[in-house]
Amino acid sequence: MKRGVAMKAGLIGCGGMGTVHNLSLKELARHYDIRVTAVADCRDEFLNRAAGQWTGVRKFKSGKELIEKSDVDIVHICVPSYLHADLAIRAMEKGINVFVEKPVCLSREDCQRLLDTEKKTGVKVMVGQVVRCFEEYKFLKEVYDHKTYGELKSIIMHRLSGDVTWGWEDWFHDISKSGSVILDLHIHDTDFLRYMLGEPDKYQVHATKFENGLPNQVVTTYEFGNIFAVAEGTWDISTKMPFEAYYRASFENATIVFSSLYEPHVKVFHKDGAVTIPDLKPEYDAKDDSAGINITSLGAYYTEIKYFVECLVNQKPIEAAPLSEGVKSVLLTLDELSEVMK
Ligand SMILES: NC(=O)c1ccc[n+]([C@@H]2O[C@H](COP(=O)([O-])OP(=O)(O)OC[C@H]3O[C@@H](n4cnc5c(N)ncnc54)[C@H](O)[C@@H]3O)[C@@H](O)[C@H]2O)c1
Repeated sequence: MKRGVAMKAGLIGCGGMGTVHNLSLKELARHYDIRVTAVADCRDEFLNRAAGQWTGVRKFKSGKELIEKSDVDIVHICVPSYLHADLAIRAMEKGINVFVEKPVCLSREDCQRLLDTEKKTGVKVMVGQVVRCFEEYKFLKEVYDHKTYGELKSIIMHRLSGDVTWGWEDWFHDISKSGSVILDLHIHDTDFLRYMLGEPDKYQVHATKFENGLPNQVVTTYEFGNIFAVAEGTWDISTKMPFEAYYRASFENATIVFSSLYEPHVKVFHKDGAVTIPDLKPEYDAKDDSAGINITSLGAYYTEIKYFVECLVNQKPIEAAPLSEGVKSVLLTLDELSEVMK
C-alpha cells in the first residue's frame, strides 16, 4: 500500500462479524494508513465496544445515518444479510467503496439492483466470500490449477456449525432474513467450488429442516464435467456441535484432507504412501474469541480486507471476490433453496 494515502473506514454492524472486521482493521492500522472513523450499531453495548477500539470515532445508531452523515472512503457492511443490499446501494450512490459481508443479498432483484448501481457509480465493491482467502483453500486451488497431483476426480466438503443463536433478534432463524443455512453457511463452499471449477453443469440438492420448516442441513452434489463435488452445510440442532470446515479432494496421484478441527489442518496422502504436510501460514495469525461466533482464526479476514484496501489505494480492479462473483453464488444458492422449499 502506498504511504501517505489515509483511508477512513466506517463499520456498519458491530456484532459477531463486525467485531471480526474491527479487529482486522485494527491490526491493518498498525501497518497501513487506515483507521475507523465511524461506527454504527442499533445496540449501544455493541456500538460502544466497537468504538472503544479507536479514538475520535463517530457513533451512529443506524447504518443509513452513518452513510448520510460521515465522510468515509469505505464502509464495511456487517449487518444481518437482509439489510445488505439497501445499505450497499445507498453507500455506492454516495460514492463510498463497499466491503459487504456474504451473502451479498437474498433476492434476484437485489442482485440486479446491486450490479446496476455498481456500474452506474463506478465505486469498488468486494464481497466477503472469505474462503477464497483461507490458506488451506488457496493451496487446494493452486494444486488444482497447476495439476500438481494430476487431475481432480472428486471433492467432498462440509461446513458444520452448532445452531446459530447469537444473532441480533434471532435473524438467522428467519428465512426471509438469512436465507437459511443454504445462503448463510453453505454458500461459502458453493462459492469456492465455483471459484475453482466454474459453474456446475448440474446439481442435486437434499435438505433437512428445523421443526419450524427452516432448512438447517443441506447436501448438494454438483457435477463439473467429469468432476463431482459434494458439499454439506449444517446448523446442528445442538449449539454445542463444534464448528468444522472440511474438505477431501481426490486427485489422480494424491488425496488432500483439510479439517479446521485438527492440527496440522492439511495433510497430503500420496499414491506411493508418503504423507506430506504443506507449510501454510496466514499472513496474520491470530485467534480472538471476542466476536463470539463460529470463526476459526482472524487470518483470512485480515487478508481479504487488506486486499480490498490495496486495490483501492493502487486503483486495481477487485478480482478476488468482486460483486459479480458474490452475486453468482447468491443466484446458485437461491436456486438450491427454491428446490428444497418446493
Ligand atoms: N464471512 C464469514 O465467515 C461470516 C461469518 C459470520 C457472519 N457473516 C455474515 O456477517 C453478517 C452479520 O452477521 P453477524 O454474525 O455479525 O450477525 P450479528 O447479529 O451478530 O450482528 C449484526 C449486528 O448488526 C446490528 N444491526 C442491525 N441492524 C442494524 C442497522 N440498521 N444499522 C446498524 N447496525 C445494525 C445488530 O445490532 C448486530 O450487532 C451476516 O450477513 C452474516 O451472514 C459472515
